[in-house]
Amino acid sequence: METTIKTLQMNFEQFTDQTVLLQGWVRNNRAQKEFGFIDLSDGSSFTTVQIVYEEGHIAQFRDIQKYRAGSAIEVTGIVTPSLGTKQPFEIKAESIRLLGDSPETYPIQPKRHSREFLRENLHLRVRTNLFQAIFRVRSVVSYAIHRFFQERGFVYVHTPIITGSDAEGAGEMFRVTTMDAERFYKNEGEAIDFSRDFFGKPTNLTVSGQLQAEAYALAFRNVYTFGPTFRAENSNTLRHASEFWMIEPEFAFADLSKDMEIAEAMVKFIIDVVLTECPQEIDFFDQFVEKGLKEKLTKVFHSKFHIATHKDAITILRNAKTAFENEPQFGEDLATEHEKYLTKHFNGPVFVIDWPKDIKAFYMRMNDDHQTVAAMDLLVPGAGELIGGSQREERLDYLEKRMKEMHVDDKELGWYLDLRRYGGTPHAGFGMGLERMVMYVTGVDNIRDVIPFPRTPKNCEF
Ligand code: 4AD
Ligand code: MG
Repeated sequence: METTIKTLQMNFEQFTDQTVLLQGWVRNNRAQKEFGFIDLSDGSSFTTVQIVYEEGHIAQFRDIQKYRAGSAIEVTGIVTPSLGTKQPFEIKAESIRLLGDSPETYPIQPKRHSREFLRENLHLRVRTNLFQAIFRVRSVVSYAIHRFFQERGFVYVHTPIITGSDAEGAGEMFRVTTMDAERFYKNEGEAIDFSRDFFGKPTNLTVSGQLQAEAYALAFRNVYTFGPTFRAENSNTLRHASEFWMIEPEFAFADLSKDMEIAEAMVKFIIDVVLTECPQEIDFFDQFVEKGLKEKLTKVFHSKFHIATHKDAITILRNAKTAFENEPQFGEDLATEHEKYLTKHFNGPVFVIDWPKDIKAFYMRMNDDHQTVAAMDLLVPGAGELIGGSQREERLDYLEKRMKEMHVDDKELGWYLDLRRYGGTPHAGFGMGLERMVMYVTGVDNIRDVIPFPRTPKNCEF
């Protein structure tokens, strides 16, 4: 009977003494004189299963002894209670068939490899324990996010990937064009004639689906997007990628408090799902990646997130005994070192709210002080800024004024202003980088290790 390691592990007693058929890849083959042991991975479970083969009992014993790490094989054998304590059962092989050989040059040998080395072998690194664990968690987190919103009646909106607007107004976009490069680069002073380009105007890959999500929130009330996002940000850090996945929920009839309430509930939901559905992976991360991870996540799940205004946060930083490389300033953005200090100070996730208007996007709602906007960043230990969100400016005159002040192209965004003209209402939303969430729940500190094929400045391999 064809089955998987996962199925066997879930009810091995029921399979005891039965003949089963497994397909997978050899992690390790320890050949002894009359016996051999293969650690087989089939992708269904974090753990491998031990295949025991025996001379005299199995055909081609000598050949099987030579099957190397990485080979694809098919095993027929009997599920047998195991004497060792590591796993409750093993497979006594009746026959083993080689499906795909793997020569000695196979880079993933049964030993510890550096993450740098594995980053050069993106197509093969997923066959290691670490990356099996990371990418299963990434999948589970993604599905948990859909579940969280779907179970609460949110409508999933597919916002465009190619757009003419810059949702964040930060100018960090990848241009989309079919014009040939030679004609594109005109002589100095000559303007590029975008009317001849594919869309008849300048277009780029989206930096956020928020603006379009707002349009849908003002009809469905509660919506979310979940898709790829692109930023031509030239920052080579452990937490920035040029292509990442973002979840952006948007809710009508909501203010900043509601925004934070939903963000907190979503983060806790995801943590709960991962702890329940990926216990082996979490134990592995706890042991080899971030000591105390499981306890950290369990604690966060049970605690209330802190809230501090940007002003309070700066005060805390300025009073700190730590010597920062960047001096914390009222009115200015937080540096990574500041975020780190704050999450330590609060010993867990903290929402920093009411940010200085000049360092935030044009669409955020002006507070009554006319100095700050109703924005929030959720900072967490390790991943830094996990979520960024805000209440949106629903007052047409305020929004128009802000767009002028910040030189946002209002021709391109006429439709966005319509949302305030026709049935506008207070509304709010946030964006969470999927990768930052995966980093947070796995303890992995480099974003390149939580994306199957990462894209970062000067790096677009595979
Ligand atoms: O703070 P950001 O730029 O906010 C927005 O894009 C809003 N439109 C969201 C909204 O209100 N709907 O990005 C949101 C989140 C960040 O908190 C971070 O988790 C992630 O997206 N993020 C990145 N993740 C990886 N690499 C990058 N270069 C990222 N830039 C942002
Ligand atoms: Mg942000």
